[in-house]
Amino acid sequence: MVQTLPGADRPGTDVPQRRRLVTAVPGPRSQELMARRSAAVPPGVGTALPVFVERAGGGVLVDVDGNSLIDFGSGIAVTSVGNAAPAVVAAVAEQTARFTHTCFMITPYEGYVQVCERLNRLTPGGFEKRSMLVNSGAEAVENAVKVARAATGRPAVVVFDHGYHGRTLLTMTLTAKYRPYKAGFGPYAPEVYRAPMAYPFRWPGGADRCADEAYERFVDLVTTQVGADRVACVVVEPIQGEGGFVVPAPGFLRRVADFCAAHGILLVADEVQTGFGRTGDWFASTFEGIEPDLVTTAKGIAGGLPLGGVTGRAELMDAVHVSGLGGTFGGNPVACAAAIAVFDRIEQDGLLAEASRIERTLKPALLALQKKYPIIAEVRGIGAMLAVELNDPTTGAPLADVPGKVAAFAAQQGVLVLTAGTYGNVLRFLPSLAITDAQLVDAVGVLDAAFAAL
Ligand SMILES: Cc1ncc(COP(=O)(O)O)c(C=O)c1O
Repeated sequence: MVQTLPGADRPGTDVPQRRRLVTAVPGPRSQELMARRSAAVPPGVGTALPVFVERAGGGVLVDVDGNSLIDFGSGIAVTSVGNAAPAVVAAVAEQTARFTHTCFMITPYEGYVQVCERLNRLTPGGFEKRSMLVNSGAEAVENAVKVARAATGRPAVVVFDHGYHGRTLLTMTLTAKYRPYKAGFGPYAPEVYRAPMAYPFRWPGGADRCADEAYERFVDLVTTQVGADRVACVVVEPIQGEGGFVVPAPGFLRRVADFCAAHGILLVADEVQTGFGRTGDWFASTFEGIEPDLVTTAKGIAGGLPLGGVTGRAELMDAVHVSGLGGTFGGNPVACAAAIAVFDRIEQDGLLAEASRIERTLKPALLALQKKYPIIAEVRGIGAMLAVELNDPTTGAPLADVPGKVAAFAAQQGVLVLTAGTYGNVLRFLPSLAITDAQLVDAVGVLDAAFAAL
């Protein structure tokens, strides 16, 4: 049976959009599978919640024991249009029946070109653009740096504290946090430099001075330690994801962008987590009115199929020699068909407004929790990318062990919530844009109980 999701007239999923528990979580079948997983898969590939999924739809995961969980993770900001969104499923089925692969570099196909045309149109900046497609966010960031180096002839890359850009050698190097992402995996890639992020809540001089002082520190690093004429690009997330949903102090990114433009440094906006409606606009760079030279995308682009992109000024993208970019699977036709369906759904179903609706429902509910529980030091984020930071109310010290406890309690009550943050003290909420207000209210009730039980 296909039901209609409240608050929208688009067809939804036949997975009932509600929380329902029939066993303890994890249930016996999940536990059995977890034992097999431990014997077959190394622990280096982590598991946030040892619950095996049997099916999913909209904003709900159904596990192999028959439990239905409200999904506040969306596979880490991927299933923004809803899990197994009917339009994505249909597009994938149709494309799969026609052909599954040719390799775009061998014999091209229209879907790849269509996705690039859409990215060129949707990403910020009215200038002429080109796009290329890859398989993941990390691969997108790697390629953006390759393009920036080739186009500028410069070696250095500047990134920020709390940044996350992936797990490959270069992107792990660009990533700030040591454990778990970097420990034991060095030596790291050369020519990567790190500036402080304008993180208002934690800025030593206070939130009011954050943008100015962080900008001064950035300029100082680039000019006195690296040399502005050696910097190919600055890579920055417009809102930091894994680092704890850090929204940079207003004005900071704008000034960084202006500095880059004045010194021939390319600005790469890593929109892998923020893109495709997550924050209520197609891309979060628009909040500061920034037009990045290069934009990296992945995650929400294709409803769960592996796809990433690099979009940039035509003259930069065209600076790379023939066959310098690409890969066997990059821009796979099935993933491209899914992406086109995602773009259509966001446009035709008005899903950008859904992120704002989620913020209007969820943020006040989280602020109400903050009033009750003083360990909630800050509620922050934009659209369907919201988080709470948890600190000791007396000392201000990060409470790294609390998000895990809240997440474990919530999971046992049928709500999946993810943790984040450099200090491990952030709970983040990344629901599907298809989640209903009723689900949001229900899930916050569970969080309330989780905080009360601490
Ligand atoms: C901002 C950002 N960049 C890059 C990546 C890496 O993407 P992927 O895991 O697809 O390689 C992520 C993943 O979380 C991310 O949040």
